[in-house]
Amino acid sequence: MLDVGSGTGRPTAAALAGAGHRVLGVDVSPVMVEIARGQVPEAGFRCADVRGMPLEDGSYDAVCVYFALLQMTRAEQTELVRRLARALRPGGLLVLATVPLDVEEFDGVFMGQDVRVTSFATEDVVALVREAGLTVEWQRNVMFTPAHPDARPEPQLFLHCGRGTRRRSADPAGWRVSPSCVCARWAPPGAIPFPTRSCGAVPYGSG
Ligand SMILES: C[S@@+](CC[C@H](N)C(=O)[O-])C[C@H]1O[C@@H](n2cnc3c(N)ncnc32)[C@H](O)[C@@H]1O
Repeated sequence: MLDVGSGTGRPTAAALAGAGHRVLGVDVSPVMVEIARGQVPEAGFRCADVRGMPLEDGSYDAVCVYFALLQMTRAEQTELVRRLARALRPGGLLVLATVPLDVEEFDGVFMGQDVRVTSFATEDVVALVREAGLTVEWQRNVMFTPAHPDARPEPQLFLHCGRGTRRRSADPAGWRVSPSCVCARWAPPGAIPFPTRSCGAVPYGSG
């Protein structure tokens, strides 16, 4: 299984490896990869920009993309989802989580750091995965409020998408990675916060 934007390795790679799956996490931040290797030694981690990483067709049983698209352009997100869909074996599963906001190059704040965010509204994410040849088998939209006194509710979208015919349920308990690892994220007073999840103490790109 491939975990795209694996961050600290928790919870996604850790949950999948703990369930007995062979997991490769990929993250562009060397600091994240170092943390993940230390925290989840049972998974493999590679430091790479997934946008340029070769992905062999039909080579993964499953791909997870949890909140890793937000620093890519819309064209890059679209192209990556298409490539990830092709990288799935027939019957494979893509699990995608993002912040479903219709924003491009939105200046937000992540753990005190200015970050530029691009995303799509829910219906456009769904259209994107369908255009990539996947079937949406399960969808959940939630509002999540980080555990911080100044935090406001944040929209999150979770999709389970199948490639071709799948024999088992799209929503086995083992696939659920709870958003409980989401930590405090907030913007300065007056600013519009953008939601995403904690990826540890090290902001994207700092490594
Ligand atoms: C918000 S964090 C989410 C981490 C983890 N998936 C989670 O849900 O806790 C996004 C992660 O994606 C990584 N990332 C962003 N763009 C990437 C890219 N082009 N290639 C590989 N990793 C990327 C970042 O370094 C960061 O660790």
